[in-house]
Amino acid sequence: MPDWDSFRLARLPFALKLALSCFLVTVGTGYLVAGVNLYLTYHLTDGEPGLGIGDLRRAFYGNRENTKLASKIDGGSMAQFLPRAGDREKILSWIQDGAAEDGYHATVKPILAQNCVRCHNPNGLQRFTPLTSYEEVMVVTQIDRGEPPQLWARVAHTHIQSIGLIFLVLAGIFSLTQTPQWVKTAVIVLPFAVLLADFGLRYLIKYAPGLVYGMAVSGALMGALFAVLILVPLYEMWLRKQ
Ligand code: HEC
Repeated sequence: MPDWDSFRLARLPFALKLALSCFLVTVGTGYLVAGVNLYLTYHLTDGEPGLGIGDLRRAFYGNRENTKLASKIDGGSMAQFLPRAGDREKILSWIQDGAAEDGYHATVKPILAQNCVRCHNPNGLQRFTPLTSYEEVMVVTQIDRGEPPQLWARVAHTHIQSIGLIFLVLAGIFSLTQTPQWVKTAVIVLPFAVLLADFGLRYLIKYAPGLVYGMAVSGALMGALFAVLILVPLYEMWLRKQ
């Protein structure tokens, strides 16, 4: 058995240290680029500058207070076209009740036909979104529920597997550092746990939007762990006095 206690990363052959260092620097750069990607994908989501909790909440939970149709007729620019008392309330409560097709034919379609379709029809100007059929009206009646489960599944399974593999290599290298045993245990196990928690929370936010804070914390923790996993071995290989 080799004597692992006196093992030092710094004593590895030069070429192997070079290979490990190139790997660590590349993985670290990849992580930073992933951060840029995250920013560019989500920073405009809530209409406020910068990437914040509001963006994550809007992206993964959605904006469930309103649909486009409701916001246009409830004090919005289309309210003026509903002069008859009660029409607006009928449409709003139809949306609230789930925008079913029966209700559309019974109540909503006649109101739209009378007040809206002269502009909102397929032969109207292009910017007048057609509102002549149930399918067309559904386009402006969708509640925004955030990231659809199919997209979550696609992103989650590729990320969990590929980042898991990267963590395995990083953890293997870190296991050879001179840090105390408890530090090794934490820094090796936590990244896997946080990775699973991050994608688990990203799904559960659909049911409990407050979890968005948990997801932000797990994201920050993951970044910190990446930094430790990469910087400590680099330091011990090249800088630490033996
Ligand atoms: C005089 C023409 C006209 C009438 C009548 C009209 N609209 Fe509009 N509608 C527009 C225009 C122009 C826009 C785009 C500008 C805007 O959003 O304010 C628009 C936008 C909308 C949008 C947003 C569509 C999208 O895809 O972004 C909705 C929803 C809407 N109208 C609903 C209605 C409803 C419901 C009525 C009837 C109560 C109605 N409109 C009556 C001209 C009209």
